[in-house]
Amino acid sequence: MNCFNNIYKDKRVLVTGNTGFKGSWLTAWLVQMGAKVFGISKDIPTNPSLFEVLNLHTKITYYQQDIRDFEKTLKVIEDVKPEFIFHLAAQPIVSYSYENPVETISTNVIGTTNVLEALRILNFPCSAVIITSDKCYDNVEWVWGYKETDALGGKDIYSGSKGAAELVCKSYFHSFFKKSTSKIRIATARAGNVIGGGDWALDRIVPDCMRAWSEGKTVEIRSPKATRPWQHVLEPLSGYLQLGAELSENQNLNGESFNFGPKSENSHTVQNLLQDLSKTWQIENPENACKIIDNITFHEAGLLKLNCDKALFYLSWTSTLNYETLIKFTGEWYYRFYQKNSDIFDFTINQISEYQQKAKELKLKWTN
Ligand SMILES: NC(=O)c1ccc[n+]([C@@H]2O[C@H](COP(=O)([O-])OP(=O)(O)OC[C@H]3O[C@@H](n4cnc5c(N)ncnc54)[C@H](O)[C@@H]3O)[C@@H](O)[C@H]2O)c1
Repeated sequence: MNCFNNIYKDKRVLVTGNTGFKGSWLTAWLVQMGAKVFGISKDIPTNPSLFEVLNLHTKITYYQQDIRDFEKTLKVIEDVKPEFIFHLAAQPIVSYSYENPVETISTNVIGTTNVLEALRILNFPCSAVIITSDKCYDNVEWVWGYKETDALGGKDIYSGSKGAAELVCKSYFHSFFKKSTSKIRIATARAGNVIGGGDWALDRIVPDCMRAWSEGKTVEIRSPKATRPWQHVLEPLSGYLQLGAELSENQNLNGESFNFGPKSENSHTVQNLLQDLSKTWQIENPENACKIIDNITFHEAGLLKLNCDKALFYLSWTSTLNYETLIKFTGEWYYRFYQKNSDIFDFTINQISEYQQKAKELKLKWTN
């Protein structure tokens, strides 16, 4: 099925953070669309990892290196001359950022600066989507959705680093990329937490849960009543890809930021989510799925909602999956993986195709 106007077919696309959870799904999708994918990542961050499980190293050119090393980053971008960049490389874990503030800030802020600086120096036609986070906003714990024009901020180190990365992008745009001599176009993308098959990061509730269930254990949860706007990883990825496609064709999007978030009806408590997921694992008794403990040791911000009107207006983008399908996609992926009874690459590509089909039924523009 054609998507994004077939714009990624045969294009050179650089994905930083390609070995991570979102980077692996994005790589798989780009490979499916016939793109020539290149990756920069410091390491393979988890074991197991989606990158390895999908055998993605056989399908792309992967440079294992640190995005904080400017000379190496410049060299790869110079050699590859990508027509598109999706910059996802980051230290993305809030709890880890409390223990390792300098590493988090240098990776998320200097790493982003290095990509932009390489683009500034090389100045070849390239559309770059810089992935930050919904946590880049100053979370004043109000009930309304945050708009792209709201104040940036971040009380914890991770959030602050993402707010800072946004400011770096803004200053690079105003100082360099908006000039008529610049061939570079950039946009930033702000999405919230995602779930989906193949995430094994520490301190994330769904991976914790899947690890526990795969060992026949009950998962422990800290804040069962915490409500989160759950969304599948493919949702923001469709937004990033649509943003990249539109950015390359529309100069007016240069320097813009976009929110990509789920519909309000996808907000459920952690406890509900886990109990619904447990049904896809055929766990009949909810007490065998999770056990409640209460032990929050660091500041965790309250519910943060994104207003996605701008993405709807300029990119004709909205999220696709309802809560039931999100549960089905996520639970079944892990169940299949741990049952080891199917080719997980084919299963992953089938989920991407099913996602595209559902978006097409909604007549979303990117499915053309
Ligand atoms: N997963 C989420 O729920 C979520 C939510 C909002 C935003 N994000 C953002 O999306 C992006 C991807 O997140 P993820 O969940 O896939 O993370 P992940 O931890 O699974 O992957 C991180 C990737 O970045 C790479 N990386 C880390 N430090 C690096 C360095 N110094 N040099 C080069 N590569 C480095 C890792 O090797 C890995 O490939 C991040 O920018 C993250 O902040 C994620």
